[in-house]
Amino acid sequence: MRTRARNVKNTFYLTTPIFYPNAKLHLGHAYTMTLADALARYHRRNDEKVHFLAGSDENTQKMVDAAAKAGAEPIAFLDGIVQNFMKLYASLDISYDQFIRTTDTNVHWPGAQALWELLLAAGDLYKKEYEGLYCVGHEAFITDKDLVDGKCPDHGTEPEQLREENYFFRLSKYADALREKIASDELRIVPQSRKKEILSFISGGLEDVSFSRPRRSSWPRGLGIPVPGDDSQVMYVWCDALANYISALGFGRDDALYQEFWPADVHIIGKDILRFHAAIWPAMLLSAGLPLPKTLFVHGFITSGGKKMSKTLGNVIDPEDLIDTYGPDAVRYFLLRHISPFEDGDITREGFKEAYTANLTNGLGNLVARVMKLAEEHLSGPVKLAGEDTIVSGEFAEKVETFRFNEAMDVVFEKIAVADVFMTEREPYKKIKSADASEKEVARRDIESLVRQLASIAAHLAPAMPATSKAILAAIRENRKPENLFPRL
Ligand code: MSP
Repeated sequence: MRTRARNVKNTFYLTTPIFYPNAKLHLGHAYTMTLADALARYHRRNDEKVHFLAGSDENTQKMVDAAAKAGAEPIAFLDGIVQNFMKLYASLDISYDQFIRTTDTNVHWPGAQALWELLLAAGDLYKKEYEGLYCVGHEAFITDKDLVDGKCPDHGTEPEQLREENYFFRLSKYADALREKIASDELRIVPQSRKKEILSFISGGLEDVSFSRPRRSSWPRGLGIPVPGDDSQVMYVWCDALANYISALGFGRDDALYQEFWPADVHIIGKDILRFHAAIWPAMLLSAGLPLPKTLFVHGFITSGGKKMSKTLGNVIDPEDLIDTYGPDAVRYFLLRHISPFEDGDITREGFKEAYTANLTNGLGNLVARVMKLAEEHLSGPVKLAGEDTIVSGEFAEKVETFRFNEAMDVVFEKIAVADVFMTEREPYKKIKSADASEKEVARRDIESLVRQLASIAAHLAPAMPATSKAILAAIRENRKPENLFPRL
């Protein structure tokens, strides 16, 4: 796609958080996936072999509870929700290469168990008694903070003080090593503010973390990964969920993909799971003697009308509603351009509609329609595009590679503005009707130039708005005005 030399390996491994399938995905999840997808598409067009991983985090008490509430058997319940994940990803054009489920006993469990065994062999797992407040309804420990008037708010019962045996992971041992790797950018954390946040967290010292739970009788066999060599225990979230990033590649099973793609080039995560990914996960890898991921890209949260989306506030925006009304590319456009990738960003239905009308209907859509109408009516055939017409600029590449998607989109929309000005100033639509042959020829060339500008715009839009990019390039190839790209709504 572009010529700038890169002396990096030509594979690119990109992961996303595996989401909990106890509820429908909302716009926040769609946001993570859109960022990841734009990055994956960019790197594919850069001739890199991309592996883009998505998945679901299924071995939790929340899942058992949600299934019970729905009156369903847990695994069947999960199958249904995972299908909804995939449906949303299909409608948003998310081009993931693999979907990992942590209940997959063939793919995920051997990887998580192999990792566990490495931690054990390193002497970093030990058994200890754990004491805490236990909610019988949850069949799990809860903390003081969870209580309302001394009772579990979900079950209305007082928790019991309970002791049980857990395996613990020696996270404390790795605090210095982690600080050094993060400070030196061997494990790069983007943006800087998150790097600072985690460094100060680690400086406060790290405590060992509980890595297993006794197997509860109510848990079906398919849920919860047995601790190797100790069937009375199942893995707790850390080794279970985080291991997905390597189990997906066949770690502990058939590791050809692991050899090819690990370490991950980028783990994309939301700010809520920074500590797991920047402290526990790299410490596990250090303990196991495995390479660390190269970069953690930590995005902010989406709010609606300045507030966290919540059913009670009535400000929840369902990504499927937006996609149904405006189409996938408009949603991707908004998320990538109007939400800062590093800070929290806000969305309202009104703001969305305004951006759609101003920038897509009146901006991009109108430009494409005007240029291609002129081309269809006045050019003898399709403009033959040269390689350079569809190379992305160094400025754009640099912004995408540093995750500044909103600025990368500004680069594209600047090109749209330039083309608009070109059209207004040079008036090819008037001159093409001139009786003067040379003026007519100037107009014809200007139309050709505008078509080339559209091709460049389409190339730059390919990672963010793939369907629009394709539609523009097809219109150019066939020299016809395309269907209305962004109808007025
Ligand atoms: N299962 C864990 C992740 C384990 S990764 C090994 C989990 N799942 S989750 O379903 O709660 O998803 C959390 C992630 O969803 C965030 O990290 C972020 O990617 C995304 N988001 C959830 N709410 C969000 C917003 N309001 N805004 C942006 N992203 C949000 O945590």
